[in-house]
Amino acid sequence: MSDTTAGLDAIENASVDELRSQQTEHMRDTLQRVYQHSSVYRQKFDQHGVHPDDFTQLEDLAKFPFTTKADLRDNYPFGMFCVPMDDIVRVHASSGTTGKPTVVGYTQQDIDAWAQVVARSIYAAGGRRNDKVHVSYGYGLFTGGLGAHYGAERLGCAVIPMSGGQTEKQVQLIHDFNPDIIMVTPSYMLNIADEIDRQGIDPKALKLRVGIFGAEPWTGSMREELEKRLAIDAVDIYGLSEVMGPGVAQECVESKDGPTIWEDHFYPEIINPESGDVLADGEEGELVFTNLQKQGMPMIRYRTRDLTRLLPGTSRTMRRMDKITGRSDDMLIIRGVNVFPTQIEEQILNVGGFAPHYLIEVERQGNLDQLSVQVEATDDSQENDARCKELQQKIKGLIGVSAHIKLQAAGSIPRSEGKAKRVIDRR
Ligand code: DLL
Repeated sequence: MSDTTAGLDAIENASVDELRSQQTEHMRDTLQRVYQHSSVYRQKFDQHGVHPDDFTQLEDLAKFPFTTKADLRDNYPFGMFCVPMDDIVRVHASSGTTGKPTVVGYTQQDIDAWAQVVARSIYAAGGRRNDKVHVSYGYGLFTGGLGAHYGAERLGCAVIPMSGGQTEKQVQLIHDFNPDIIMVTPSYMLNIADEIDRQGIDPKALKLRVGIFGAEPWTGSMREELEKRLAIDAVDIYGLSEVMGPGVAQECVESKDGPTIWEDHFYPEIINPESGDVLADGEEGELVFTNLQKQGMPMIRYRTRDLTRLLPGTSRTMRRMDKITGRSDDMLIIRGVNVFPTQIEEQILNVGGFAPHYLIEVERQGNLDQLSVQVEATDDSQENDARCKELQQKIKGLIGVSAHIKLQAAGSIPRSEGKAKRVIDRR
């Protein structure tokens, strides 16, 4: 394993040919391994009429069946593990919206590889071994806290394992311990920023230099807001527990042009979510991942439900993903029009004069969907009525529906301490 403290991992700027050849080798090995060691995969491949020997080049992956959250749920809790329980050293779980959580298991080798990709991510974000890293992602079954923690330690940073919540204390420690980097959801960062203001601290006087924000969708406008307010570089980290946790992809601070996918570990595809057909790079669809090196619970063609597109590499050899528009599950259909919370967020921040906290409510009156958006103004300006009208027009331009804009008292919209809940759908 290479040493991230000395700079980039060799594969990060290897040739595309070298990368594809390593991927092919790892893929072949993984397909054979899951077929031999997992009755779930063996059965799925057999039913689909495909055998690991049918894989000779990366394009052959399309012959293999997808894995979905339903597969994990049907084999709850440990049925998807591909090694004996003796070899599992860690379990994480993500709370599903319905019923049983999704469980994942890691071997020691997986934990090491995960630490390595997170260390690589922090490095790409501009972090170095002498930095202090404040981690406000939740510790526990959620992969955010421990994932960030092991990566920061691997890079050689000093970790402050604060976890989520206790916002007042977060600010006290950020002030007193002077971290260089904070790892947190963007929505919780906003909440912390409000508390920094409340405590009368000048955010620009803090030592914070970089925010590594992820675990939920956030827009380019939100990046501007966070960077301006905190005088930091705000970069995007992506991941999901089924595939590993944080550190599947990371935006490089020098280009800030969407997360680079660590393709030596996670092979991406974009598919048409309806037909399942693989789409060309640049086309928008559902992101699908295959683990190339994971031992405990490798995912073959796991459907993330996240919508994005693949873009060519810039700062690194590996391909990038565009910012996630949203999850297909979070897409609202309002009077027949598809809309994502991020699209509304963009409009709120573009009008100006609104706090970046918002809540979208949808209900049905008669047979018509009614959309309302709760916002808070940043001041008591006379212009607030005009701002609300402008927002209403912008949303109408976007989805053709007149939203009811509800200007709320400052501080009254519920604040996030982790992943924000942006939508209440009462239909
Ligand atoms: O959220 C892992 C993580 C922790 C990523 C900390 C980044 C930082 P899950 O709880 O399994 O894992 O949720 C995964 O969150 O499929 C996306 O829908 C969403 N998500 C994660 N990162 C981003 C991001 C963690 N940067 C699900 N932008 C994923 C948009 C994201 N959505």
